[in-house]
Amino acid sequence: MGKTLYQQRCQGCHLPALSEPDIDKHLQPIEWRTTAGEKKSTSEKVLDLVIIPAQEIGTDPAQGEVLVNRLIDTVSINQASGEQALSELGIDGLLCGRDTQAIYDNQLFGGNQAVDLVDGLHIRDGGNLNFAFALGTIVEQTIDAWFDANFIRDQALRDKFYGGRPNCLQAGRGYKARPLNGVWATAPFLHNGSVATLRDLICRPQEQRPAYVRLGDIRFNENDIGLVQPKDFVQQAQHHVKKGQLYTEDGYFILDTSIPGNSKQGHSFSAEYDTSKRYNEQKKGVIGPAFSEEECTAILEYVKTL
Ligand code: HEC
Repeated sequence: MGKTLYQQRCQGCHLPALSEPDIDKHLQPIEWRTTAGEKKSTSEKVLDLVIIPAQEIGTDPAQGEVLVNRLIDTVSINQASGEQALSELGIDGLLCGRDTQAIYDNQLFGGNQAVDLVDGLHIRDGGNLNFAFALGTIVEQTIDAWFDANFIRDQALRDKFYGGRPNCLQAGRGYKARPLNGVWATAPFLHNGSVATLRDLICRPQEQRPAYVRLGDIRFNENDIGLVQPKDFVQQAQHHVKKGQLYTEDGYFILDTSIPGNSKQGHSFSAEYDTSKRYNEQKKGVIGPAFSEEECTAILEYVKTL
């Protein structure tokens, strides 16, 4: 029953379990274009994961937004006057990213051409540099410095180390639905760790998940699959948070899910799911109807086997 439920209710986003033969269909080469328009692809195939837009999955958007919105100043032109100017950080490299011109044209002219990856975007120091591109370039420059330091000069060998792949940044305002293998061991859940157990994530609608998560106790809660949380933790946490304390008396960190960036919302299986409406017309963050107790146990048992 758990496996069937997984196939019906999870697989569309999370893909078949890695042990299933069907997984082969989701292995694809990475494809990109050069700035001159030449099409390229890797010889190896990799898992082609599904990325769900943040507004559809309804989980906290902050982390995805960083990729799109956060700007940094690497030449200190925006520095407050009076401070000593720093020199440039030294960012200079070619990166691969989503074709921003194609995105722009799509938005402006309502086109529906596929927005794909283009390699060869020149990223340099600047006053309003996109954080993600800057970080991606620094990573690549660091790797290249390591090659230089270790006398790896042969380009073919460097390409081999890179797995024949360009250094691409492609997500943004969306989250990947990762394969769930081993997920039973990786609490707390969601990209921001705002949900303590799989039971809270799968069997409780978003508004019924605990508002506070206690972090730091590594004991495993095998019944709910995740972190051990004291029974009265929400009241206990409220008491501390009111006094401005971030830690419990015994030194555990209190994650407050009402703070932006920490939201426990989204990825919710809920009675509010309206079967007469399409998937993208549901209440924000509601991705499917609630499970019965029996279904819930079955799905958690199945997820444990992955
Ligand atoms: C609409 C697509 C979609 C469906 C359907 C879906 N998921 Fe997810 N799932 C996601 C996305 C996207 C994330 C990442 C969200 C985030 O981290 O903010 C996620 C995250 C998770 C996580 C947390 C992973 C982690 O590393 O913390 C678990 C566990 C999970 N899903 C289990 C399930 C199960 C079990 C089902 C079926 C009952 C299911 N999901 C159905 C898209 C989906």
